[in-house]
Amino acid sequence: MLHLTSRPRRLRSTDKMRHLVQEIRLDVRQLIYPLFVSEKVSGRAEIPSMPGMAQLSLSSLEEECQSLAQLGLSAVLLFGIPAQKNESASQAYAEDGIVQHAIRAIKLAVPDLIVITDVCLCEYTSHGHCGVVVQEGNRYDVLNDASVELLVKTAISQAAAGADIVAPSDMMDGRVGAIRTALDAQGYTNVALMSYASKFCSAFYGPFRDAAESAPRFGDRRTYQMDPANALEALREVALDVEEGADLLIVKPGLPYLDILWRVKERFELPTAVYNVSGEYAMIKAAAKLGWIEEKRAVMEMMTAFRRAGADMIITYWAKDLAVWLKS
Ligand code: PBG
Repeated sequence: MLHLTSRPRRLRSTDKMRHLVQEIRLDVRQLIYPLFVSEKVSGRAEIPSMPGMAQLSLSSLEEECQSLAQLGLSAVLLFGIPAQKNESASQAYAEDGIVQHAIRAIKLAVPDLIVITDVCLCEYTSHGHCGVVVQEGNRYDVLNDASVELLVKTAISQAAAGADIVAPSDMMDGRVGAIRTALDAQGYTNVALMSYASKFCSAFYGPFRDAAESAPRFGDRRTYQMDPANALEALREVALDVEEGADLLIVKPGLPYLDILWRVKERFELPTAVYNVSGEYAMIKAAAKLGWIEEKRAVMEMMTAFRRAGADMIITYWAKDLAVWLKS
């Protein structure tokens, strides 16, 4: 219907008018900041492909969390880089593993900061895959159920150390149900489960794999992460995780998958996060460095797009900058 008298620009005339009719607002309390804690660094080790991000030692992690709280941030997502990797990823579920230490340290330093832990094996396996691998000649297979067993142990050890939310990111079948059952059986009924319910096999994870030292030594992740071409499959994956007891959902990556985000939010109506991944971060950082793009405006626009497409929460490496920008 075309109303020739309609003049939408009336509502864009001033800042006040524009704010009055604004549909989406960003809130620092809905941002989740990823942190890399390493057993191998002292202080901070900058990550070249992710300017502004660093691998942190336990003591710099504590300081970092204190400054995050001061900025008004409420939640962090923890990734660990162990000194020792092996085939059974034993440092992922060791009581004295780096992430388990980190959780306890954060809970002492900033008790009310929400600690979300990545539940995956790729940072802990010698081959860099997200599960248990069997090899025969030049063929290999990532075993589903054997991997789920280790993921369950990992999630339980993180809950025992004090994690508020566990977030499995491996994409094995059945892991959400298995983790939920084990958490409940061991009395961790209040620990929430945030599932990377639809995680695509993406080129945009490149810089993260430098940061987490988790690139696969051979092959790729196509037998467990999803084909970027498949939206209906994504919805089936999410449906399984919802049935298995996921409390919160993640769609990942963000920008190239806004259609998935929209459909997941519309269909399942659960609290939904989007993961604005390392490659999305690196692209803007690189273009901004060259003077080709205005970082702050581009980032604000991306964040607005995530919220518009249905994200309640945004996992982003820009959380600290956003906390500052949103104040001004
Ligand atoms: C681990 C994991 C990955 C990311 C988060 N958890 C990488 C991968 O699948 O290799 C990527 C995050 C990012 O790129 O920012 N399974």
